[in-house]
Amino acid sequence: MGRVIDSDELPGNSSPVRSSQLGCDPGAPRRQRRRAAGEGYQRPFAEYNLAAWQALLRWREDHPGPLILDSGCGTGDSSLALNQRHPEAWIIAVDKSIARLARRGLGAAAPMLHQQARCCFVLGDLVDLWRLMAAAGWQFERHYLLYPNPWPKPGMRLRRWPLHPVWPDLLRLSAVVEMRSNWEVYAAEFVQGLQLQGWRGQLQRLAWQAQPLSPFEAKYQASGHSLWQVVGSAGSSG
Ligand SMILES: C[S@@+](CC[C@H](N)C(=O)[O-])C[C@H]1O[C@@H](n2cnc3c(N)ncnc32)[C@H](O)[C@@H]1O
Repeated sequence: MGRVIDSDELPGNSSPVRSSQLGCDPGAPRRQRRRAAGEGYQRPFAEYNLAAWQALLRWREDHPGPLILDSGCGTGDSSLALNQRHPEAWIIAVDKSIARLARRGLGAAAPMLHQQARCCFVLGDLVDLWRLMAAAGWQFERHYLLYPNPWPKPGMRLRRWPLHPVWPDLLRLSAVVEMRSNWEVYAAEFVQGLQLQGWRGQLQRLAWQAQPLSPFEAKYQASGHSLWQVVGSAGSSG
């Protein structure tokens, strides 16, 4: 049977992010201070995420060793590439899209979790799985967030990870976070979000990639977009 092609695979046909927002959200520092005084994000966990978490816990019992997290892995091509870069580690790759994860064997026979090479693909919502992993004390050698949805409309800004209430849980999972985006404002907000949590964050323009790390990186690069990379590390931002 032929492989389903979706628009993500079409190179060079993507428009740059457009937004009326030209700089970091000025409300971020006040919002983070208010949240820090609260109890953390309390949204109830969805049943399907709890089931995915239980499956992941069982999988982990039989797969010890260092872990890398590929959050919002999409089709999982990046996870397999990360496996090449970090051959000693297990890659845990999470996405909420069954259509994308179907490429990696998730479906009727493997509804929540499926292993391919040294990658464990998990169908679930990061907002729940990050909190469950953080509460269980899981630690990753490195946490990748490749081309997260930018939510460029100012009214949707709280869906961006550095402005989302789950942000402190996300940062508990690894001492090193790498994010890539084709929207500079998102990258700047990511750095700001890191610094507000006492992290260091370095923003740089990503050089042209002969071998793009993910399908979205390939698509944006072929479309001529500027790409941005933030590497954050836990510790003093001073
Ligand atoms: C723009 S795509 C990038 C995919 C891939 N990282 C790449 O670079 O090719 C963003 C991905 O994040 C996933 N995503 C967004 N919000 C999510 C959430 N709350 N939980 C899990 N996945 C999410 C989407 O389903 C989508 O596959």
